[in-house]
Amino acid sequence: MNRLDTTAVRRQFPSIDVLDEGIRRIYLDNPGGTQICGEAVNAMVSYLKHMNANDGGHFMTSRRTDLLKAEAHDAMADLVGAESGDEIIFGQNMTSLTFSLSRSMGRELDPGDEIVVTRMDHDANVSPWLMLAGDLGLTVRWIDFNPETNRYDETSVDEAITDRTRIVAVNYASNALGTVNDVRDISARARAVGAWSYVDAVQYTPHLVTDVQAIGCDFLACSAYKFFGPHQGIVWGQRQVLERLTPYKVRPASNELPTRFETGTLSHEGMAGTLGAVEYLAGLGRETEGGGTNRRADIIRAFERIEATERPLCQRLLAGLEAIRGVRLYGPGSEGRVPTVAFTSEYISPAALARSLAEHNIFVWDGDYYAMEVIERLGLAETGGMLRVGLAHYNTEEEVDTFLDVVEHVSTGAR
Ligand SMILES: Cc1ncc(COP(=O)(O)O)c(C=O)c1O
Repeated sequence: MNRLDTTAVRRQFPSIDVLDEGIRRIYLDNPGGTQICGEAVNAMVSYLKHMNANDGGHFMTSRRTDLLKAEAHDAMADLVGAESGDEIIFGQNMTSLTFSLSRSMGRELDPGDEIVVTRMDHDANVSPWLMLAGDLGLTVRWIDFNPETNRYDETSVDEAITDRTRIVAVNYASNALGTVNDVRDISARARAVGAWSYVDAVQYTPHLVTDVQAIGCDFLACSAYKFFGPHQGIVWGQRQVLERLTPYKVRPASNELPTRFETGTLSHEGMAGTLGAVEYLAGLGRETEGGGTNRRADIIRAFERIEATERPLCQRLLAGLEAIRGVRLYGPGSEGRVPTVAFTSEYISPAALARSLAEHNIFVWDGDYYAMEVIERLGLAETGGMLRVGLAHYNTEEEVDTFLDVVEHVSTGAR
């Protein structure tokens, strides 16, 4: 599959050419939030200029808002491979949606029931379940990962999922290690014991094609600001499960899907931007041979191109870091991963290195990025966690090389 033309891609991101006192920015903070594409920005501005209203009214702007909301749901259904936009729930962010859905799911549980969380997840897919367990007297079981392979430990998966399991909350791609997990297998195991699977795909959706039907999960959560859109959370849920659950909602609000879980007035401009981001992604597939007939098919083609573009860039990054004296890489090697790479240096703390990189206008994250279990499991909580650098399809080889030069210079210089 043909790689993307990175120059053409970069032209579609208004923030990429921004200079700070004449210095260009190198955005390697993508796992924390990607840059927003122009199509999403334009969609938001257009919504606010031409359609801004509350929904459900008889007048033009309100009718257009209703239409826009339906289009945004349909676009997200295409992004994740869902059957219908009715199965898509928009909300403030992934964390809030997960807290809210966990409450509804909790109404179906009894004391002594078990829920499963993992040591590889972002805390947004851990704390909601721990708090639910605390409230309802549920038993919590943990899936561990192997710090050698940085993948889920098979024995631990076997032991955690039992006949009493009711919810299994897992991570599709780790925001710290970059590991892509076999959520299809875990969802099947959950289903086999009658449990719901809740997949956190926040770090997966910007990089690889998401297909909820193929995974066979019950819920899949993501965030538009991680896939080139605005700050907006989205959860897909199995229709039968969404219909069965009782939503926490106000009485006058519709009890129909998807509205029953979309409490209060939503960020309509955020939904417009999310639609714009999905259209941007589909556009990357539409421009290939045979593209342009079906949005879902275009999205699949787009992610094939994104993967073909990111993979060699990630290999360059990994090889370059490996060659720097004192660097220790964490993560699963070059296969079965997204291009999110975490490391430590023997000579400099993650925070000091991140500060030095910031002086060169290179944007990265350090610490635990809320993957607190990962950092504790690796024994790095007392030493400032890891430095994390994450690529997106708009990054260039030259940016990777500049980053590597600065890391080498600063870290070995601190020896
Ligand atoms: C893997 C993962 N899950 C969940 C979240 C939380 O997403 P949100 O900011 O939309 O609540 C993040 C944010 O960084 C993340 O990386």
